[in-house]
Amino acid sequence: MILRQVLLQGAQALRDAGIEGPERDARLLLAEVVGLDPARLALEPDFPVGAEDAEKFHRLLARRAAREPVSKILGRRNFWGRDFEINPDVLDPRPETETLIDLCLQEPPAKRLIDLGCGSGIIAVTLLAEWPTAQGVACDISGPCLDTTQRNAVTHGVNDRLGVNKSSWFNEIKGEFDLIVSNPPYISDEEMHGLSPDVLNHDPHLALTPGGDGLSPYEELAQGAMQHLSKGGRILVEMGWRQGAAVMAIFNAAGLTDVSCHKDLNGHDRVVSARRT
Ligand SMILES: C[S@@+](CC[C@H](N)C(=O)[O-])C[C@H]1O[C@@H](n2cnc3c(N)ncnc32)[C@H](O)[C@@H]1O
Repeated sequence: MILRQVLLQGAQALRDAGIEGPERDARLLLAEVVGLDPARLALEPDFPVGAEDAEKFHRLLARRAAREPVSKILGRRNFWGRDFEINPDVLDPRPETETLIDLCLQEPPAKRLIDLGCGSGIIAVTLLAEWPTAQGVACDISGPCLDTTQRNAVTHGVNDRLGVNKSSWFNEIKGEFDLIVSNPPYISDEEMHGLSPDVLNHDPHLALTPGGDGLSPYEELAQGAMQHLSKGGRILVEMGWRQGAAVMAIFNAAGLTDVSCHKDLNGHDRVVSARRT
């Protein structure tokens, strides 16, 4: 069979299974199997696909049809231009989190930063890679997340500047930072019921929800920021698109200043930033 036929059949199989964006997902999976760049598939319609590769492609399609996200099937996700290892233990990074990176990079490089709830390490590793003189700490309550962060730090050459700590928020953290960043779990109990199977069955629940109204991590982060942020230092946190006002209120009540809310590329409230003066 030739690549164009295999691709069309694969996209149709995903469409029949009710997957959104079936062409894109089929292209990414087939590119992986035949070892071509996904962007080149359209330029190689007559590329021969052997029986073994076709079978492998069908196995990957079956996983996607069962709602496993493409990044978890491939074991990687591109974030801010770099590929990160992704596995069942970590949240599949979302493009919205790039809004937080963009806002951090609009200010001069931090000297010492901390990423709380680091997951795969995308935030801490990206910031250290962008700021070659910065030092950082990444913490999470999950050991496998810390191991994944460590491997991603090695891949991107920042492991000598990143300390990795097991901690529930600031509980085991000492010292001051001039930048605190976090994308904590923030989905409320109520919203958990409405999640798609792609998310519910493949992202760790610890990464999705802290329970209740989803706001408890922001209380911890705001209190911790008042103790661990150096004078003039900045905190930026991601939150759900309907949580902006509540997170701002928590930060103001804790005594943080310059509290403001920023939108993502879809025009939704996504990041709250503040300072300690
Ligand atoms: C939404 S995920 C974010 C992961 C990663 N920073 C990202 O943006 O892709 C939240 C992370 O917080 C971690 N977490 C949950 N409860 C925690 C706690 N009490 N203390 C520290 N980390 C926690 C989870 O294990 C998960 O890795």
